[in-house]
Amino acid sequence: MKKLFGVLGNPIAHSLSPLIQNRAYASVNIHAYFQPFHVEQKDLENAVKGMKALGIEGFMVTVPFKSEILSYLDELTPTALTTGAVNVVHLIDGKYVGFNLDGQAWLSAAKEDMGISELTNEHVLLIGAGGAARSIYYTLSQHNHVKIDIANRTLEKAENLKGLNENRIKTRTISLEEAEDNLEQYDIIVQTTSIGMWPHKHETPIQVKKLKENVFVSDIIYNPYETAFLKQARNKGAFTQNGIKMLASQNAYCIEKWTGSCVDSGKMVDILEESLR
Ligand code: ATR
Repeated sequence: MKKLFGVLGNPIAHSLSPLIQNRAYASVNIHAYFQPFHVEQKDLENAVKGMKALGIEGFMVTVPFKSEILSYLDELTPTALTTGAVNVVHLIDGKYVGFNLDGQAWLSAAKEDMGISELTNEHVLLIGAGGAARSIYYTLSQHNHVKIDIANRTLEKAENLKGLNENRIKTRTISLEEAEDNLEQYDIIVQTTSIGMWPHKHETPIQVKKLKENVFVSDIIYNPYETAFLKQARNKGAFTQNGIKMLASQNAYCIEKWTGSCVDSGKMVDILEESLR
């Protein structure tokens, strides 16, 4: 019998995870099927109970349930607990354990394109202070010598992120205007807000004026394929990366957790590029 995995969300029809997960299973002979589940807010608890009753060994969680799901799981990893968000669940010894792999997936995708195995003393600009920014900040803050400036429209939200800074790495919170005026000081810039996402594809969180030579600029959005912000950065000479590799890397981590099989996340990138370009 095939194993069943899936993703819970609302809306969920446009999720690309079913496409890449099912293709990946076929490529490494995993006998499983991945199903998107559209769940109403009021039904989330029952949905999780139902998943367990049916023996579903793993599922992903997406908008708008990444925080609310915490109440219905049996255990949380330290990252999930600290960031207050879960995007992957795995059944271990009869318990649903919640993981947050967003930050880890972003960092591995970024390191791959930067051609480095570890961060050293980079100065990072993190744009945004929402759910995705929390996970990325938490992951970055595990690197003692990295310096981070968090730029957000609502400064209070950026301040809240500092609560995740267990290692007391150097962190400042700044306005979007201040970030825009001082862009040339950053080695890495990561854009995590929803600004520029389809259909608002002409909007940018900040204007790209001057950039440091060899700067790496990442935007976690993958629809559109290249946001207006990323395009501006590329035109100013930056090495740029959209959100496709992060998405692929997240899906590869899930499959590894759930089945123990390693899949080639590069192939997943190809599948995503094909469907998004
Ligand atoms: P996610 O969980 O996907 O990261 P979120 O928690 O809703 O989404 O966070 C959205 C981020 O985009 C926030 O940083 C938000 O800024 P505020 O904290 O000021 O709300 C930012 N954002 C969204 N729309 C914006 C806009 N029009 N201008 C500036 N920032 C915006």
